[in-house]
Amino acid sequence: MSIRLGDYAPNFKADTTAGPLDFYDWKGDSWAILFSHPKDYTPVCTTELGYLAREKAAFEKRDVKIIGLSVDSVDDHIGWAKDIAETQGAAPDYPLIADPDREVSELYDMIHPGEGDTSTVRSVFVIGPDNRVKLTITYPKSTGRNFEEILRVIDSLQVTARTGLATPVNWQPGEKVIVPPDMPSYEAEAAFPAGFEEHKPYLRYVDAPG
Ligand code: BEZ
Repeated sequence: MSIRLGDYAPNFKADTTAGPLDFYDWKGDSWAILFSHPKDYTPVCTTELGYLAREKAAFEKRDVKIIGLSVDSVDDHIGWAKDIAETQGAAPDYPLIADPDREVSELYDMIHPGEGDTSTVRSVFVIGPDNRVKLTITYPKSTGRNFEEILRVIDSLQVTARTGLATPVNWQPGEKVIVPPDMPSYEAEAAFPAGFEEHKPYLRYVDAPG
C-alpha cells in the first residue's frame, strides 16, 4: 500500500529494542519520525543511526519521537548498537523495530523489489500529533540521509500547524514566512497588524508569529 500525505499512519504492534509496542500507544500525542534502514551491521546505516543517537535532543526539543526499523532481529539490533556506540560516539536510545516477517515494512511500502533484495529502503515518515502523515521521503540504499533537512522540514511543518503559514525555499527558523495564497489580503491585514511585505498579490512575506 502506498501511503500519501494526509493519510493516517497505519497502526501496528511490533517487537522492538524497547520491548513489544503498539505504535499509536507509544507515539501518543507527539510528533514521530518512523524511518527504515536496509540492514544491521552495514556502514551507511551505522552512520545514520549514530547521528540520530547523538542528535536525539534536537528531536525531543520539537516533541518528536524517533523509531527505526529493519528486517533484522532484536538481538541483531542490540549487538550492532555496541558497534554504533564504538564508532559513532553514541548508541541508539530510541526503539528499533525488528521486522523479520516484513509486516510493518509491507504496511508502509518500505520494500522496493527493484532495489535488489527484500530488505527495506531508506524510508522516512514524519507523523503529526493527529497520526496523519506529514512528510514522506525515500532515499536509495547507497545514500545516507540528511537528517538536518528532516529537522528543517519538521520546523516548517510545526510553523504551519501553529499558524497556517507556509515557508519559502531553503527556509530556516527565524527567517520570514509566507502568507498562503488562499488568505485574502483583508484577512492577512487583520491577522498581521504589524504588516506584511507584498511583492505580488500571491507573494507575501511576514515575520513568523512567536
Ligand atoms: C549501508 O548501510 O551501508 C548499505 C546498506 C545496503 C546497501 C548499501 C549500503
